[in-house]
This record gives sequence, C-alpha cells and structure tokens, in this order.
Amino acid sequence: MSKVFLTRRERFNAAHRMFHEGWTDDENMQVYGKCSNPNWHGHNYNLFVTVKGSVKPDIGYVVNLKTISKIINENVIDKLDHKNINIEVDFMKDVIPSAENLAIAIWEQLEPHIIALGVELHCVKIEETENNYVEYFGINDEI
Ligand code: NI
Repeated sequence: MSKVFLTRRERFNAAHRMFHEGWTDDENMQVYGKCSNPNWHGHNYNLFVTVKGSVKPDIGYVVNLKTISKIINENVIDKLDHKNINIEVDFMKDVIPSAENLAIAIWEQLEPHIIALGVELHCVKIEETENNYVEYFGINDEI
C-alpha cells in the first residue's frame, strides 16, 4: 500500500548555554561563540515531526494530526517550553543542549507513542534559528 509522509510543526521557546564543563569561559567562547554566554540565552525553536504510514481508507488520513500534536505536546513541548534546557529538562540531563542532541532526545521521547498509533516515526527536525536546522532519522539511518 502507498505510504505517505505527514508532518506536524510545534513551537517552543527555551533557554540554554552551550558549554563544555572542563573548559574555561574563553575556550567555550572559541567553540560555541555567543551560545556559550554564562548568563544563558534563548531560541524560538520550530520542531517538525514527520511520520510515515498508509492512508486509512475509511478516514482518509494516515493518522489524525490532533493525536500527533497531543503526543508531541505532552511528551516534549510541555517539558521544554519556557524552560532552561541545561537544568530543567529531564530527557536532556547530562547532554550538551545542541539542536543535534535535542533532535535525538526528542526522537527517543516520541518514538514509542508514534509506533503505538500504527505508523512509523520518520524524521525529527529542529530549527534553532531561521538559518540553521538539524534532522534526525533514527538509529536505522546510521551507517
Ligand atoms: Ni544557542
């Protein structure tokens, strides 16, 4: 049966500081630039979650987007929005709060709930600024 990709966007605002514990502020500044500001800074993030599945003939949907939105909000957005990623987000504990690490962690939060709907999780995309985004396609995409 034909598979269709379906994407939901959700947004959140969060603070973070990019830094490596063992480095001085100067060393962190060299690697992370302004993102290493010791007094934190924030981003307006866009999160795109893409699922893949067959169109259900009876309803014409792959899956109801309201259901996807609820899963994303309950498991990810509610934990990240208006929070400090370095210190307040359980699934980002002990991880450098880059968009890359966020994408992987968000995938891990969402995947079991998406699979339970009978569709596949295909991609987690995060835009940290309008010029930068990362995409994660899951462990099966790794070579
Ligand atoms: Ni930043």
